[in-house]
Amino acid sequence: MPCILAIETSCDETAVAIVNDRNCLSSIVSSQIAIHRQYGGVVPEVASRSHLETLNEAIALALAQAQLDWGEIDGVAATCAPGLVGSLLVGLTAAKTLAVVHHKPFLGIHHLEGHIYSAYLSEPELEPPFLSLLVSGGHTSLIYVKNCGKYEMIGATRDDAAGEAFDKVARLLGLGYPGGPIIDKLSQQGNPRAFKLPEGKVSIPSGGYHPYDSSFSGLKTAVLRLVQQLEQDGSELPINDIAASFQETVARSLTKRVISCTLDYGLDKIAVGGGVAANSGLRKHLMAAAESHNLRVLFPPIKLCTDNAAMIGCAAADHLQQGHTSPLTLGVHSRLPITEVMELYRDNRIDIC
Ligand code: KG4
Ligand code: ZN
Repeated sequence: MPCILAIETSCDETAVAIVNDRNCLSSIVSSQIAIHRQYGGVVPEVASRSHLETLNEAIALALAQAQLDWGEIDGVAATCAPGLVGSLLVGLTAAKTLAVVHHKPFLGIHHLEGHIYSAYLSEPELEPPFLSLLVSGGHTSLIYVKNCGKYEMIGATRDDAAGEAFDKVARLLGLGYPGGPIIDKLSQQGNPRAFKLPEGKVSIPSGGYHPYDSSFSGLKTAVLRLVQQLEQDGSELPINDIAASFQETVARSLTKRVISCTLDYGLDKIAVGGGVAANSGLRKHLMAAAESHNLRVLFPPIKLCTDNAAMIGCAAADHLQQGHTSPLTLGVHSRLPITEVMELYRDNRIDIC
């Protein structure tokens, strides 16, 4: 089974891991949250510079922790899409250089495919087909996982991602960044039924609502209006109740869409990934609903749900096993649909960044 050195620098985590098939031998994750917190969100230029400063040390540490040298590495992989272009370029250029210097195959990996593979890392026996729910700062995706490189995008958000909605609501409540963990914590002391908020449904022109797509920007605006109304009334803001009601609404709406999608497509397993998979409300709602419909739901440990390079290495090991490698002319892409991942392994692909 191939042993991969993988690099992930698509956003604000500098991560390097060594993975043998579905087995993680070492995983280094250096978070930039403390740097970006002062700006209230990720600053792309600052993120790229920080990746540059941290990456070499992370590579050395990953090799040392796995107690391997280059002779035992079968391939080098890096996230090449989607993400912040400058940040992706740092990781991709390092991976290509290492691949050339050490005469190893090189693989560019789609970040969302990596998140899907985090489920295999936590449960090596898992086999497709299953439904993947990816909920992070950048994505709210429902993906039908058919096989390595074969995905169908069934649902997405039309505007803000789930994690982005948590971050924006936390900001408007003056709670700091990142907002998800703070709102989750405050929700424990709040009443989830204190305020009725819209569930972020997407209406369709022919009538009714899209069954699998979300729109969280309206929910965020509803929270803003509620806060403005309460402030006008001169009452003290019931922060815990607002946090709990918002969290409950997101958890309930995501759960409804995931369950109906799983049933409609005749699937029986759901794997959740992305930072919002840590959310206690989502876990509670989705686990209860899955149980009542006799479905299996898998929440990998949080360190595998948030951005890491082990998931990238796991996806790369499977691709390499299937004989897929990327040309050194592969570039980075800020956006690339997951349905197009096999394009990354086209021999004559030439990208200009
Ligand atoms: O997957 P991730 O680490 O990075 C990407 O965006 O790719 O996800 C980060 C997001 C942030 O928006 C953060 O607020 C959210 O995940 N998050 C949570 C929780 N922990 C992190 N959202 C809700 N509840 C949490 N406990
Ligand atoms: Zn991610």
